[in-house]
Amino acid sequence: MKTMNVGIIGYKFMGKAHSNAWSKAHQFFDMGIEPVMKVACGRHPDALKEFADNWGWEEIETDWRKVVARADIDIIDICVPQYLHFDIAMAALKAGKHVFCEKPLAMNVEEARLLCEEADMHAGLIHYVNHNYRRCPAVMLAKQLIDEGKIGRIFHWRGAYLQDWIVDPNFPLTWHLQADKAGMGPQGDLNSHSVDLARFLIGEIESVSCMTANFITERVLPDEAASGTFNGTADVAAGKGKVTVEDAAFMHVRFVNGALGSFETSRFAPGRKNYNYFEIYGSKGSLVFNFERMNELQFFSLEDPTYAQGFRTIMVTEGEHAYISGWWPPGHIIGYEHEFIHAVVDFMKAIGSGAQISPNFHDGLREMEILSAGLLSAKERREVKV
Ligand SMILES: NC(=O)c1ccc[n+]([C@@H]2O[C@H](COP(=O)([O-])OP(=O)(O)OC[C@H]3O[C@@H](n4cnc5c(N)ncnc54)[C@H](O)[C@@H]3O)[C@@H](O)[C@H]2O)c1
Repeated sequence: MKTMNVGIIGYKFMGKAHSNAWSKAHQFFDMGIEPVMKVACGRHPDALKEFADNWGWEEIETDWRKVVARADIDIIDICVPQYLHFDIAMAALKAGKHVFCEKPLAMNVEEARLLCEEADMHAGLIHYVNHNYRRCPAVMLAKQLIDEGKIGRIFHWRGAYLQDWIVDPNFPLTWHLQADKAGMGPQGDLNSHSVDLARFLIGEIESVSCMTANFITERVLPDEAASGTFNGTADVAAGKGKVTVEDAAFMHVRFVNGALGSFETSRFAPGRKNYNYFEIYGSKGSLVFNFERMNELQFFSLEDPTYAQGFRTIMVTEGEHAYISGWWPPGHIIGYEHEFIHAVVDFMKAIGSGAQISPNFHDGLREMEILSAGLLSAKERREVKV
């Protein structure tokens, strides 16, 4: 079996999710090429060593530039905050590595454009932006039903991506709340996923109109151990800092095909944990997906006899559903981590075939254009062409 060496940069939330995927993918799927978990990189050697030992990374390194420079590394996996994506991805492409990058691709449109230009100069290199929700079997089924014409002409996308981890005013100012590290608030963090799903399922977006809000403008600074999301702890002695990203963004869009869409995102929605939700309405039927019930897809069809019409809930766990043949018998559900495994499988297959994966850096650029246009629209209070 051919193998390829992976270097991962970052070892917290996404570092774990990706490590799990790199280690398990070959046990469930035939990828043609097997990834080898060669080196893990982070700034704190003790915590990094513990991480590497737990997940099976062979070596550790505290300087990402040394990982990228290694001749024996074939794939760079980027699991760090957005402000580091550009430098690492650019260096990796220049060094001839395939790049598996977390979302959003970059801090802004300019960075994303430069990455695309560089990627285009290396024809054989695969570049991927990790919008893992595309690789949920229920989302793939939604795509299949749309492509088969079962929904007909699409009129509406109604999306929401809601969480609740910063409702507490004592939650600290982690990197996600700082514009110089995250680029954007939930518009970049969460709406990037929704925009990716909408582009995948409905098509291109041509204009946006957006409103943003801030509810808490100052927060206590985080301690060293704080992760970006969910489990920040405060360093009370260090004082307070300003929140420099939006807390919520509500965006309306026009799709090129004439459909209208709405995207609501906020991290101030108590009870909504990872509520990545969409409804699609068309001339022949409708679809509803909620990631918190990710093994299910709701489907309403106007082609059913009137007396039997109603939303049906499809359990997306049959062998003929995307990716499921690699897993368990019908009804034996899968979870969040499986999407990451599917992404690794498709990434390795893309390397093997030489055919570019999607979403790739070009999708990442388009998303940055749409999301940035949204923030401009909110600032100038007008509809903005993308
Ligand atoms: N696909 C998804 O669903 C999803 C979910 C969460 C986060 N993300 C994305 O993943 C990325 C990482 O987010 P996270 O939640 O894992 O953050 P995190 O705060 O949990 O982890 C960040 C990691 O980056 C490391 N790091 C920071 N600066 C570094 C440097 N200079 N050199 C090496 N390592 C450095 C930290 O030590 C830590 O290991 C972000 O781009 C985020 O948007 C994606």
